[in-house]
Amino acid sequence: MTDLPQTMLHAAATGAGGPDVIHIARGPLPQPKPDEVLIRVQAAGVNRPDVLQRQGLYPVPPSASPIMGLEVAGEVAAVGAAVTVWQLGDKVCALSNGGGYAEYCAAPEAQCLPWPAGYSAVQAAALPETYFTVWANVFMHGRLASGESLLVHGGTSGIGVTAIQLAVAFGATVYATAGSDAKAAACVALGAAGGINYRTADFLDDIKRLTGGRGVDVVLDMVGAPYTVRNLRCLAMDGRLVQIGLQQGAKVDGFDLGVVMMRRLVVTGSTMRPRTTAEKGVIAAQLRARVWPLLDAGRCAPVIHAVFPLAEAGAAQALMETSAHTGKIMLTVAA
Ligand SMILES: NC(=O)c1ccc[n+]([C@@H]2O[C@H](COP(=O)([O-])OP(=O)(O)OC[C@H]3O[C@@H](n4cnc5c(N)ncnc54)[C@H](OP(=O)(O)O)[C@@H]3O)[C@@H](O)[C@H]2O)c1
Repeated sequence: MTDLPQTMLHAAATGAGGPDVIHIARGPLPQPKPDEVLIRVQAAGVNRPDVLQRQGLYPVPPSASPIMGLEVAGEVAAVGAAVTVWQLGDKVCALSNGGGYAEYCAAPEAQCLPWPAGYSAVQAAALPETYFTVWANVFMHGRLASGESLLVHGGTSGIGVTAIQLAVAFGATVYATAGSDAKAAACVALGAAGGINYRTADFLDDIKRLTGGRGVDVVLDMVGAPYTVRNLRCLAMDGRLVQIGLQQGAKVDGFDLGVVMMRRLVVTGSTMRPRTTAEKGVIAAQLRARVWPLLDAGRCAPVIHAVFPLAEAGAAQALMETSAHTGKIMLTVAA
């Protein structure tokens, strides 16, 4: 690490609050643990969990960097003593355990993947958070299979765009909800068979109509409590509800276990960040084998809505809070 600087710039937050608490600060470089690489960050993704962390609503796990940012792309600038896969200069994108809004970020080597063919740093950094989350939840927990159907709530979110694209690429029929007619149309443009404006239509009615009364095999939900009863009623026999967010609460009124029994439903869900490195490594290995070839071939690709310099991370998060975006909001970092 001899040619590395002693300090780096990063985006810090002065306590919990609005986007204006974010400012640029100087601090020490992260020291990679034996199984980690140090990445010279060129681009980082902005995700809803970053907003929650800034608001003081998402406690940082004890061993994770307190700096915001869960995904980066850049070049390997140093390797820990036990690293075997990556070498100095390799272009990687990584699901980090925090620390992405910075010039340098340490990440376990098992959570790194190569840049797909022809990708820029911004495109590569747009992949890890949504691809790890969608693969783990829709395909591993939700067991979505070719020929099945999926309802994605928040279809134009970073997560939603990836869920639509990946499910279609793997042969599923996808329906998606979003908060305007234009966003519902964007879901269809991404490959969904139906886009539902949840502000003007009841998604349960629409799903029943669109599926001829059968329902869908999997629902991916990030809304929570007010959707749960209708999500269960959207499901076909042996359907799976996968919960990945709780934007409108966790406590459900009117939950009817009888529906679960009669329709043999599975209710599951997960969070990504607290998983172990080994668990994230399993997801990374599956992504590399099953999904990276699709990205290399251009069969799916991240949708970049806006790019901000690191110094404007607050503006990037403010944009996310408006929900005006479709796809990813990104930061560029010049180390
Ligand atoms: N469990 C995990 O491992 C994990 C990992 C990453 C992210 N997440 C969660 O996944 C969600 C998306 O994350 P992101 O980073 O992609 O954020 P994002 O782009 O800001 O997405 C939030 C989305 O929620 C949608 N939404 C809000 N209310 C809705 C409603 N009533 N019905 C349908 N959609 C609604 C918004 O759509 P409209 O603007 O159209 O309303 C927006 O697209 C967040 O809840 C985040 O916490 C979970």
